[in-house]
Amino acid sequence: MADPLHNEFPAGSLEDKDLRHLLHPTTNLKLHHQVGPVIHDRAEGVYMWDTRGNQYIEGMSGLWCTALGYGEEELVRVAAEHMRKLSYSQLFGSKSNEPSILLAEKLKQMAPFDAGRVFFGSSGSDANDTQIKLMWYYNNVVGRPEKKKIISRKKGYHGVTVAAGSLTGLPAFHAHFDLPLDRVLHTDCPFYYREAEEGESEADFVDRIVGNLEALIEREGAETIAAFIAEPIMGAGGVIVPPDGYFDKVQALLKKHDILFIDDEVICGFGRTGQPFGAQTMNLAPDTMSVAKAVSSAYLPLSAVLIPEWMYEPMIEPSGQVGNFGHGFTYSGHPVCAAVALRALELMEERDLFAHAARVGEEFQARLHALADHPLVGNTRGRGLIGAVELVADKASKQPFEASQAVGYNAMRFCEENGLIVRALGDSLALCPPLIITSDQVDEVFTKMTRALDQTQAWLGR
Ligand SMILES: Cc1ncc(COP(=O)(O)O)c(C=O)c1O
Repeated sequence: MADPLHNEFPAGSLEDKDLRHLLHPTTNLKLHHQVGPVIHDRAEGVYMWDTRGNQYIEGMSGLWCTALGYGEEELVRVAAEHMRKLSYSQLFGSKSNEPSILLAEKLKQMAPFDAGRVFFGSSGSDANDTQIKLMWYYNNVVGRPEKKKIISRKKGYHGVTVAAGSLTGLPAFHAHFDLPLDRVLHTDCPFYYREAEEGESEADFVDRIVGNLEALIEREGAETIAAFIAEPIMGAGGVIVPPDGYFDKVQALLKKHDILFIDDEVICGFGRTGQPFGAQTMNLAPDTMSVAKAVSSAYLPLSAVLIPEWMYEPMIEPSGQVGNFGHGFTYSGHPVCAAVALRALELMEERDLFAHAARVGEEFQARLHALADHPLVGNTRGRGLIGAVELVADKASKQPFEASQAVGYNAMRFCEENGLIVRALGDSLALCPPLIITSDQVDEVFTKMTRALDQTQAWLGR
């Protein structure tokens, strides 16, 4: 085990200080002490540079968030203007501010369902925590205090706070944290390539896992289940696109059992999947929605929960009786974040960015799926400008590599050596470039990725 207080970098260098002072989020801490940090220095458009002068094309939009790319002067201008004018205000106790009001109106207009109210936060995790609390509050005030459980899916990612982290269906986010909470249930992941049984058709796979969901609902009792939460396309779980028919059948089941559908659009929202929202790409009719990330193009942190008016109305009287609707964050409706998000959404419209992303997304998907011919690639999947390639030891049998070989991690490092930022999710390499990416830049991404895959193969051969 590397001694966390000692490293090979020059004393006092940024790398040395990083290794001595930071607790890195969502990082393999052991590996981090062996390899040290890559320190980002500056970025422009779809390119980024580290402190050693290496240039990268941004294949991941940071953490799936920088939709408008980096260095957008108009957002810099709006942030500075609003910091000068009203650097902070709140929405507690009936206070309000113009950017929050106008952003709420804008989000309702854009939403792919009949949204009535918008609650602001700062992160996808706090948005999904809010979703859970609103479900509990709502069911209490409408006289269904037993209807509280939330169904999520294995490999789903909904954040890391105690409640949202419980929704997340990835073991590393539960291990040693005493999660998940017991009001959260996890059902099957709709990942045909990995989860289908031998010889099972896609349609049969869907029927089987939706049957398992129905069995879970019956076992627990529909009267104890408030909601089901899903990303239209799973992101951090490995960019998993459910098979045709999956969501139609799930939604019919939820309707039958009076279970609400929470649509987690934190990655898919705002043009990512070739439509304005993942709900449209996957044909969803959600009851509520969480957004974050691209809503502000990550220039400042902002998230929002959208709920229908019929959920809001029954909460008014009871909050009067208690004397408060006791939920809110210091930064709920931060005026500078809201102003930047509002301008980001306007820029997307002014530049017809969703149509651009859909168009370039077709080229992106064609190049992505062409990688299926590479000897290391077992599966390619995606929609619009999000996708993944899964590396396997044997294509025919889908045999994965041993985890100890860290093939995904090493392939990611080869991508970085070629000047391409990707994210390794196990042995899947995820791509999610800024929506402003051009056809030539898509070509650059896949040229670099192909070279990195060839190098990975050569490295495995050694
Ligand atoms: C679908 C989804 N929901 C929620 C979250 C959590 O967002 P945050 O990291 O801002 O808390 C993420 C983050 O990647 C996400 O991908």
